[in-house]
Formats: sequence, C-alpha cells, structure tokens
Amino acid sequence: MTAEVIYGSELAVTLRNEMKEEVEGLRKQGITPKLTVILIGDDPASQSYVKGKQKASDYVGVDSELFKLPSSTSEEELLTRIDQLNKDNSVHGILVQLPLPNHIDEQAIIEAISPEKDVDGFHPINIGRMMTGKDTFYPCTPFGIITMLKSKNIKIDGKKAVVVGRSNIVGKPVGQLLLNENATVIYCHSRTENMRAYTKDADILVVAVGKAHFLSGDDIKEGAVVIDVGVNRLENGTLTGDVEFESAKEKASFITPVPKGVGPMTITMLLHNTIKSAKNFHQ
Ligand code: GUN
Repeated sequence: MTAEVIYGSELAVTLRNEMKEEVEGLRKQGITPKLTVILIGDDPASQSYVKGKQKASDYVGVDSELFKLPSSTSEEELLTRIDQLNKDNSVHGILVQLPLPNHIDEQAIIEAISPEKDVDGFHPINIGRMMTGKDTFYPCTPFGIITMLKSKNIKIDGKKAVVVGRSNIVGKPVGQLLLNENATVIYCHSRTENMRAYTKDADILVVAVGKAHFLSGDDIKEGAVVIDVGVNRLENGTLTGDVEFESAKEKASFITPVPKGVGPMTITMLLHNTIKSAKNFHQ
C-alpha cells in the first residue's frame, strides 16, 4: 500500500482562511481577539516559533503582542507580568514560550496563567477538563492531530491507537484526546519493553519522541495511520521526522510528512483557541 500524505500545511491554510473571515465578523462587533506571547531568553528555536505565531496571528487578524524578556528575568518578575495580563481585559490568550530558564519553576508559571486565558491548554484545570471530556482549551499540537485525522474522515472510534512519547505537551494529551474519541490507547516510552510489538499492532500510530528516524516501515502495520510529530535537524541541515518517511509511506494508509505535516497545525489551533477565548469573554 502507498499512503495518502496528510499535509497539515494545506489544512492549516483552509482553517486560517475560515478564521480570518470569522475574525472580520468579530471585529465588526467590536471584539478583537488578542494573544500575548512572553519569550524569555534568546533560544533560536523558540524565537523562530514565536515569529511563526506572530505571522499567523497577523494573517487571521488576531492582535498579537510580544514581550521579549532577558534570560536573567526572575520568577517573581514573570509572575507579576502574568498577573497584569490576567487582569487586562483586552488580552484573551497568554502564552509563555517553553522551555524556560532553569531558575524559573515552569509548573508555577503554567499554574499562574488564568485558565480562561490558557490558550496552550497546559493549566491543570484545563487538563482536568480535557480528562473529564469537557470542552475547553486543548493543547495545540494534540488538537491539531485530531483535527487532521477528522479532516480525512479517519475512524478513531474503536481503533487501537499507540502513542510513542509521554511528554506533557504532546504524548499524554494526544492519548487523552484519542481516548475521548473512543480509541483504545496504549502509551509507549523510553522504559517500554519490546516497543515494536505495540507499534506494529497500531491502527493509529502517533510518534513524538524527538529522535530522527526512530521508527521505519518495518515497525508499522500494513494500512496504519502514521502521525509524525518529530522535528529533527540532520547534520546536513535538513528537517526530518521521527519516522523514516519513505519506508513507512509504502505500508501506511495515511502518513504526515515533516515538514508540512503536524507543525503548521499547532499554530493554527493556537489561533483557534485565542478566538474561542475572545468569544467566551464576550458571551
Ligand atoms: N514550546 C514548544 N511547544 C510549545 C507550545 O506548544 N507552547 C509553548 N508555550 N511552548 C512550547
């Protein structure tokens, strides 16, 4: 079998155009969705992500504001800034770019953001709402993955989904969202024994480990749906996923590429969450 490639980049364009129209309508009602991003330090990858978020916000008409703070910023200063933004009625979404410098307690920062402005969906209240099947802000990459599956009418209900990786940002929440869609979910991670026994049995395989070509066509079932979340830079500078695309494509029924796969959907869902927040505030 040769897989159909799911281009998140194309779906992202469609969704962003729909959002652009929606935001035009909201603006006419005097509602201007606004996202505030806090970036600490000068990590090049984080700077590039943040730039992408601003560009996409501009495109759909969401106001975006960036606070660039030095890596010497104290936890207290950051907490004060978040408190101000929590109280600012013009701000609908607050995003603190991760990772943070070691002297700042990441969890304390996540918990300081108002759950009603937590467009990342990382606050324990929003995680709890997601776990209990409530409508809330879902973490953007997992939400993007579910949206991609649905866009291709891929059946999730009753299917065996295997998630490789258990990060708080991707692995754990994508498993939860798949469970909410009635998949049977198995998590694999660095301590899993005989991981390939699981990956080879998956109807839907989500790989988020951050290791180039961690899995190949030999590790998947004929007809599987393969979602590759990894973004890894090879020594020659090219970007590649956690899955060896060419061999996996020959066995899968659907597969996402890297780049142009899951990546563009993450920012798209962030905009979705910001618009949702603006609407919630003006209900
Ligand atoms: N760093 C890597 N991915 C993310 C994300 O989705 N949100 C935030 N805030 N930081 C990140």
